Amino acid sequence: MDDRPIGMFDSGFGGLTVARALRDLAPAEHLVYLGDTGRYPYGPRDLGEVRSFAAQIGRWLVAEHDVKLIVVACNTASAAGLDAWRREVPVPVVGVIEPGVRAVAKATVTNRVGVIGTVGTIRSGAYQRAITELAGSLVPTFAACPGFVEFVERGETGSDQVFVLAERLLAPVRDAAVDTLLLGCTHYPFLARTITDVVGRDVVLVSSAEETAFEVQGILDRGDLPRAAGRAGDLRFFSSGDVGWFRSVGSRLFGSELGQVGPVVWP
Ligand code: DGL
Repeated sequence: MDDRPIGMFDSGFGGLTVARALRDLAPAEHLVYLGDTGRYPYGPRDLGEVRSFAAQIGRWLVAEHDVKLIVVACNTASAAGLDAWRREVPVPVVGVIEPGVRAVAKATVTNRVGVIGTVGTIRSGAYQRAITELAGSLVPTFAACPGFVEFVERGETGSDQVFVLAERLLAPVRDAAVDTLLLGCTHYPFLARTITDVVGRDVVLVSSAEETAFEVQGILDRGDLPRAAGRAGDLRFFSSGDVGWFRSVGSRLFGSELGQVGPVVWP
């Protein structure tokens, strides 16, 4: 048994979709979640800068919270390249890209799939590389969706404006007649209804967030990481932005009260 928490982070609320799924699958685990809302969005930033944020957060999770595993609950940070800082942190690191690709490959019938994500994620080519490596028979269509993350961070997940934006950004995916769409940004499950309204009910949405939670559950089930001893783990949330906003909007998106949100100030 190992009662150290699992650490997770995202640029903001998006990783709450991973936290929710992990909470449901492994309720005994203690979780520490950081929303780096003071520096969101990551999507338009230089990937080197995102990598340095990820390294800093990794060090913080280990030093301040003694985590036993880090879940990078953010596609953009995963796409920025985890190899270098994986070597830096003394605990295992799980990213979101490979679990999402494996899931989309399982779900598709026609092999015509869509992958949507932030500009940084799509431009990095990380999904292209993972598809070539893990699921070479897929015929993917990629679309970057700048602006989606900002709508979610404003707590605006079902407005007319987000629908209009989605119609424009998802046109290439709709035109490609995909049967499955991978939500390659952990914020996007909060927009699932709007996305379905645009691409049609026949298109299966696959969330990289849920697949990542399954991946962590698999690690615990195989005994690669010792489980927590109790029945209901603690959840602790931190934000580098406005903690009051994080608590109120985050509670609504997470589906239950986040409780006190701790502040984080980067040097
Ligand atoms: N949830 C992050 C992701 O999965 C959003 C990145 C952003 O802040 O733009 O990519």
